[in-house]
Amino acid sequence: MPFVSDLQFASIVPDGLPLSLVGIVATVVIGIIYSVLTKERPLAGFPLAAIEGQSPKKSWLFHGPQTLNEALAKYSGPFQVMTGTGPKIVLPNRFADEIRNNPSLNFQKAFLKLTQSLNLVTDDLVDETTAALRDIYGSSPEWTTTTLKDGVTDLVARLSSRVFLGQDVCRNERWLQIAKSYTVDSFIASYIMRMAPSPLRFFVYWFVPQGRSIRKAVRDARQIIDPEVTKRIAAVDAARAAGLKPPKTADSLGWMYEVARGRQVDYPASQLSLTMAAIHTTTETTGQAMLDICEHPDVAQQLREEIVQVIGEHGWSKNSVTKLKLMDSFLKESSRVHPLNLSSMNRYVEQPVELSDGTVLPKGSRIMVAANFADPVTYPSPATFDAARFLRKRQEPGQEHAHQFVTTTPEHMHFGHGEHACPGRFFAAHLDKVALCHLLLKYEWRFVPSEGGFPAPDTFETGFSGSRTGQVQFRRRQEEIVLDLE
Ligand code: HEM
Ligand SMILES: *[C@@H]1O[C@H](CO)[C@@H](O)[C@H](O)[C@H]1NC(C)=O
Repeated sequence: MPFVSDLQFASIVPDGLPLSLVGIVATVVIGIIYSVLTKERPLAGFPLAAIEGQSPKKSWLFHGPQTLNEALAKYSGPFQVMTGTGPKIVLPNRFADEIRNNPSLNFQKAFLKLTQSLNLVTDDLVDETTAALRDIYGSSPEWTTTTLKDGVTDLVARLSSRVFLGQDVCRNERWLQIAKSYTVDSFIASYIMRMAPSPLRFFVYWFVPQGRSIRKAVRDARQIIDPEVTKRIAAVDAARAAGLKPPKTADSLGWMYEVARGRQVDYPASQLSLTMAAIHTTTETTGQAMLDICEHPDVAQQLREEIVQVIGEHGWSKNSVTKLKLMDSFLKESSRVHPLNLSSMNRYVEQPVELSDGTVLPKGSRIMVAANFADPVTYPSPATFDAARFLRKRQEPGQEHAHQFVTTTPEHMHFGHGEHACPGRFFAAHLDKVALCHLLLKYEWRFVPSEGGFPAPDTFETGFSGSRTGQVQFRRRQEEIVLDLE
């Protein structure tokens, strides 16, 4: 989920919120009466976290990281926080493994298809990275200033759309616009809706500007995606009629069709959900990696050497990308030192659960687990950025697979942990590595010299989101090996 800081939020609302003054006043008044009557009550038996001088709700919304860290230090066990939608229990990360094995639906199966076809999609990713970088960054040998988030979002939207929907759709301007804005619009709409009392939320949805762009996005997505689905079904039918095997499609329309086995699928809606889960998170991860590249030029150079050696020798394939082990370690360290979210494993308690320390999680409560990316026992000198940290761990006997970027542990929950850990992480890591190979060999990167750094990220609850306006500089360099396919 993306975030808006309180300041940005304030600047979003007055712009063209098409509610009349009377409507606003009425909503506020009803809202106040409602919230007094139904005051969100803390759960019994769990200390409620808040920083000094703040209400628990404001403390969590606007000072999430500080609230979390203070409470972890103060209470040795579980505590609760007051979120915008009621209380939530926070468990220290030593409970992560107890939580992970709670039985649930296996939704992950649908993603196996994507993970299994990573080899098939590598050429598509390489091809699209070549084309996208040409469009986004061009080939000037002069240092050029750019807004980091814009370029990275464009790149990630194109790469993931290429794999999810194929070449035509991924270069469709309107689809790219939807892919980039749908998640943020949904988030802002839900943020505004949460401020209204729940019986009025549906009503508010019809009036916030983001609600309108969401509805338009859904209509336009149907117009773009439906013909693509029809085309594919026609191609399959034609092949079958001619006694041939249907064309093998690597994209997600193809694998959703196969996984569905004849059941009805709402392809446009599925694509919008995929987009929501995939684009924002992958953009944040890639953007942070680019900042670490600017900050550690020596690491950038080591990564280049590894790319030249590995891709130079083996060419492009899923396996060669897997051999980029310093890059894998670098990405894991980047997300450890600058986590996307200090909490993870959002779960709803369907039946009371007793934890090993005797705590009982009440039925109907919501829980999450506090991350601990800086545990000094697991990570010596946790504050130091050490790009090869996980590579060295992998070189210890028997540890080859325990410290990959996609491995989840209670001490590294970038992709969550357990049954509901991110099923898209194998794909996201693969995409990220292909993109970084091109970004590193084709360009040099640095902070804008006159600024000497990059603005701090925005926060929302315990989540971080890279600055939307922060700039960096790049210039074209000559890649040592041929990365493009043609
Ligand atoms: C670097 C990029 C990404 C990050 C950091 C990320 C992170 C996460 C996290 C933290 C969760 C919650 C896990 C938990 O609660 O245990 C999650 C869930 C999920 N992610 Fe990702 N994700 C990324 C990319 C993707 C991509 C590319 C896709 C789709 C191809 C995807 C699809 C999903 C889905 C469908 C879920 C829900 C899983 C469930 O509820 O069982 N993610 N992701
Ligand atoms: C951070 O993670 C928690 C727990 O999974 C989740 O409830 C929250 O929405 C996330 N925050 C953001 C801004 O993504």
